[in-house]
Amino acid sequence: MLERIFVLPSQQRNVTMASKNGTLPPKHVYRGDPLAEPPPPELAAILAPHRGEPDALITALEEIQRHYGYLGKNHLQYVARELGFPLARVFGVATFYNLFRFAPPGKYQVRVCRGTACHVNHSDEILHALSDHLGVGVDETTPDNRFTLQVVACMGACSLAPVVVVNEETLGRMTADKAWAALEHLGEEGEDA
Ligand code: FES
Repeated sequence: MLERIFVLPSQQRNVTMASKNGTLPPKHVYRGDPLAEPPPPELAAILAPHRGEPDALITALEEIQRHYGYLGKNHLQYVARELGFPLARVFGVATFYNLFRFAPPGKYQVRVCRGTACHVNHSDEILHALSDHLGVGVDETTPDNRFTLQVVACMGACSLAPVVVVNEETLGRMTADKAWAALEHLGEEGEDA
C-alpha cells in the first residue's frame, strides 16, 4: 500500500539541503512552553476582568505591580498570552512608562512625596537625607533588600505635608531627622510598617 508522507515547506528545505550536503538535517528539539502552566490564581484573578478589553493593558500592568510590587518577566508574558496582546507591545508599554519597575522592591518601600505642598515644606531635604543614610538613590534598593527609596507626586495627604509613606503607613509633618528615626527603628526592630 502506498503511504503518503506530508512534508512541511521548512522540512522540505532541510531535507533538500541535507541531501545536497550529505548530512542529516538539524534535529529540532521541542523544549516545551515555559508558560504551559496557567497563571497563578492571584494573577489570573487580576487578568480575568480585562479579557477582551483592548485598552486595558496599562490598567492590568498597574494592578499587577500593585499586587506584586513589580513586573516580572513572567507577568508580562502572561499578560500577552492571556489578554491577547503582542509580547513586544506589552514590553514596550511597560518600559515606556517610568511608573513601572522590574525588580522586586525591598521589604520597606519608602516613598517621599514631591508634590507641591510637600515640596514647599522641604521634602527635598528629607529625600536627600534618606538617600545619604540608606546609601541608595531614587528607585534603588539597599543591598540587604530592606529599603527601596522612591518619590511620588502627591499622596493625597497635603494637610500633613511634608509626607513620607512607608509601605501603607503615612508619616506626616516629617523632618529629615524624624523620617530617618522612623526607618532606623524599622531596621533595628524588624517590624512591619
Ligand atoms: S503634595 Fe504631598 S501629600 Fe499632597
